[in-house]
Amino acid sequence: MRFQDQVILISGGGSGIGQHIAWELADEGAQVVVVDINAEGLSETERARSNRVHVHLCDVRDDDGVRQVVAETMAQFGRIDGLVHSAYWTDPKPLLETGPEEFQKTQDVVLKGAYLLARHILPVMLQQGRGVIVPIASVHSVLGFRNFFAYQVAKAGLLGYVRSIAVDYGPAVRAVALAPGAIDTPALHDTSEEVRATLAQGSLAKRIGTAHDVARAASFLLSDESSFMTGTMLLLDGGWSVL
Ligand SMILES: NC(=O)c1ccc[n+]([C@@H]2O[C@H](COP(=O)([O-])OP(=O)(O)OC[C@H]3O[C@@H](n4cnc5c(N)ncnc54)[C@H](O)[C@@H]3O)[C@@H](O)[C@H]2O)c1
Repeated sequence: MRFQDQVILISGGGSGIGQHIAWELADEGAQVVVVDINAEGLSETERARSNRVHVHLCDVRDDDGVRQVVAETMAQFGRIDGLVHSAYWTDPKPLLETGPEEFQKTQDVVLKGAYLLARHILPVMLQQGRGVIVPIASVHSVLGFRNFFAYQVAKAGLLGYVRSIAVDYGPAVRAVALAPGAIDTPALHDTSEEVRATLAQGSLAKRIGTAHDVARAASFLLSDESSFMTGTMLLLDGGWSVL
């Protein structure tokens, strides 16, 4: 129960990785506040751990919406110890097939969302004298894959985000990006068996990762066990990037 009495806010926790992080942290004693635009997903996340998971329908691109969730969290719990930004949107394409609106939407959910969440949560963390911010980045933050222009731009941006927060607001606040490789979530469900097999064989672990793998790494980054890590990223890809 290493997160007993701690409060952690997770975006995109209505599905996949964010949902499993919410459950993992709740199981370790945290009060978990989850924001997402998917009402059904939010209910599922809450139902499974109803005593410790508290959900809000909120678009991370909406400054007032994020401000309100943070205010309600403070009114209910009086503190916020951790932030995980897992929400994302993309339509994977190369640059010349990416329209300005699609490009902007990816940047807005990934980067503007990360900024707005920190804009309202950092003052709370600084007041407390401690806090940890963990955006979910990707192997796409550091490697090049075809047809992922807007996504790769946004995910690379999250590395600048953690560096800036670390230098401007450390040591009180730590920021570490968590960069998974291929993980079995609804985002991967449309992928063919052939592609899934290629992804599994392409890793040294010879499997696709699970959302639980990512949740355990997020739990480590949010805990004091990683207190010497900040301004950097943790790559969690089963050795995929080594080959
Ligand atoms: N699945 C993978 O293989 C993989 C690999 C590397 C990184 N990631 C990253 O992990 C994170 C989670 O991915 P996932 O696979 O769990 O995806 P997912 O689609 O299962 O979950 C994403 C969630 O974000 C929510 N969301 C979208 N737009 C939002 C908005 N504007 N405001 C609030 N919530 C919003 C969605 O409703 C959804 O519940 C993403 O940041 C993704 O880039 C995933």
